[in-house]
Amino acid sequence: MENIHPIFNTILSGKDKENLLGQRGLVIWMVGLSGSGKSTLARSLEKELHNSGILTTLLDGDNLRTGINNNLGFTENDRTENIRRAAEVSKLFVQNGIVTICSLISPTEEIRKMAKEILGSHYFEVFIECPLEICEQRDVKGLYAKARKGLIPNFTGIDSPFEPPKNANLVVNTAAGSESESLKLLIETILPLVKA
Ligand code: ADX
Repeated sequence: MENIHPIFNTILSGKDKENLLGQRGLVIWMVGLSGSGKSTLARSLEKELHNSGILTTLLDGDNLRTGINNNLGFTENDRTENIRRAAEVSKLFVQNGIVTICSLISPTEEIRKMAKEILGSHYFEVFIECPLEICEQRDVKGLYAKARKGLIPNFTGIDSPFEPPKNANLVVNTAAGSESESLKLLIETILPLVKA
């Protein structure tokens, strides 16, 4: 860091970008087990916000892991680096007023604390709550079955920890309500926060 001289005071501020777009930047950080419904809700939420005139971007764990994070696996260290990069990329977007929806398991309090520290007041945590048994029954990608057979080491909820968030800004329980009910709750909570 010694010979690095970043210029943080550019001529234009985040506020200028937000004013141009007529919206407020926010990072919607969706946390939850594989199969809890994060990616489905993130996609529908993005579409709804877009239809309401909000400029958004979507960062999904599986997608990031095919590009910027394609050298990372699922050890504790790799997950930490995965989340660090996702949070830093989100910061670049949100500094330009863009509503950034992140869908990543983010399994531990420590990992989420790091994301929150990187993003500060822009961080809005949504816990997509769903019991492990139900995620496993859904098994949309067939990964739980493989993990139970021992074919995927360090699988979240099976042989790698998931600590449910204690202080999420919003909790959406996808086992208790329909997809449209979950989406309604998300939109009703988030739209007022990002509308100028
Ligand atoms: S995180 O723990 O680092 O936040 P991330 O959200 O990026 O995880 O990636 C999770 C996705 O990777 C899952 O939805 C699943 O499709 C896939 N995956 C592959 N191996 C694992 C594993 N061992 N644990 C959890 N998810 C895995």
